[in-house]
Amino acid sequence: MKVLLTGHLGYIGVEAVSVLRQIGHEVVGLDAGFYNECDFAALPDEIPALEVRDFRDVTSDDLAGFDAVVHLAALSNDPLGDLNPSLTYDINLEGSLRLARAAKMAGISRFLFSSSCSLYGAGSDELLDENAAFNPVTPYGESKIRVEQALSELADETFSPTYFRNATAYGLSRRLRADIVVNNLVGHAVTTGKVLLKSDGTPWRPLVHIRDIIAALAAALAAPRQSIHDQAFNIGKSGENYRIRDIANMVAEIVPGSEVAFAEGASPDIRDYRVDFTKAESQLPGFAPAWTLRAGIEELYTAYKETGLTAEEFLGPRYYRLKTVQGLIDRGALDRQLRWVA
Ligand SMILES: NC(=O)c1ccc[n+]([C@@H]2O[C@H](COP(=O)([O-])OP(=O)(O)OC[C@H]3O[C@@H](n4cnc5c(N)ncnc54)[C@H](O)[C@@H]3O)[C@@H](O)[C@H]2O)c1
Repeated sequence: MKVLLTGHLGYIGVEAVSVLRQIGHEVVGLDAGFYNECDFAALPDEIPALEVRDFRDVTSDDLAGFDAVVHLAALSNDPLGDLNPSLTYDINLEGSLRLARAAKMAGISRFLFSSSCSLYGAGSDELLDENAAFNPVTPYGESKIRVEQALSELADETFSPTYFRNATAYGLSRRLRADIVVNNLVGHAVTTGKVLLKSDGTPWRPLVHIRDIIAALAAALAAPRQSIHDQAFNIGKSGENYRIRDIANMVAEIVPGSEVAFAEGASPDIRDYRVDFTKAESQLPGFAPAWTLRAGIEELYTAYKETGLTAEEFLGPRYYRLKTVQGLIDRGALDRQLRWVA
């Protein structure tokens, strides 16, 4: 298939490029390049990309000839959404809908949208399946819901959107992020000896390795249309819901000499939910999530050790999306709408 991969220069995207090409897809990228100075390791070979770099500007003419769009690009977390909530709606909601309408007009039948379990927000104690009520606690979570709903209205016999409600991701990437809980805790443990908790550690969080997220996307590209048409899938693995303090304890167990510590002013986190992954495991053909948290922590520990990651590097702006974007704004490279200043 000829696949347009938006966000191909981000944390999940750089690894998705390699996997999708390996299984035979022709991959073309689309990315504004906000994190181009944020490599953890050298990127894979450059792939062709659309001339238009911001998906807010895409027209159907740009999309002629593609079979599928895999839409990863976004302001990708809750703190980024707090930078300026209207920007999250402008990019994640309006931009995504513009892209989807252009894709439909260009005759592209598959549109795989990277949504998030954070649309469940503050959940109950039960395992939440795809029919659970939404309860977002941030503009980011709210934007994901509204995109899913609007895409569903576009769904018809010519256009099959699919919504991947990814759990909180972890795992090694050549464009690492340290602002997601597992990567963060392992980094603190390796570079400072403290597994530093910023909340009281009681909230539940579903977790998924980025390679399982990518595997789900790959499975959906190959799946019969009727099994993915206008469907939402929670993406993760049964048994992979953890309390934050249990993640921290596991990190302390794996990283020699580290111990759990609480940041000053650590307080409860209102994002608290457990998720049921059985639908994707049983109804997304070819999808078999493989990673466990323990294996993911071990992978990160080894990589951080091998590269000699220091506390200064780890805690600096490079691996924190909000700090990077704020830095680009402060030095005048990006304007407040996150447009590059020529
Ligand atoms: N990482 C997670 O824990 C997680 C969990 C659930 C869902 N997701 C979703 O998966 C997707 C990818 O996440 P990630 O962790 O790789 O994020 P990331 O921030 O590392 O990458 C996002 C990429 O999108 C690009 N981008 C942002 N705005 C753009 C625009 N207007 N035009 C073109 N490119 C733009 C950025 O330059 C960046 O390379 C996002 O939609 C995110 O919401 C991520």
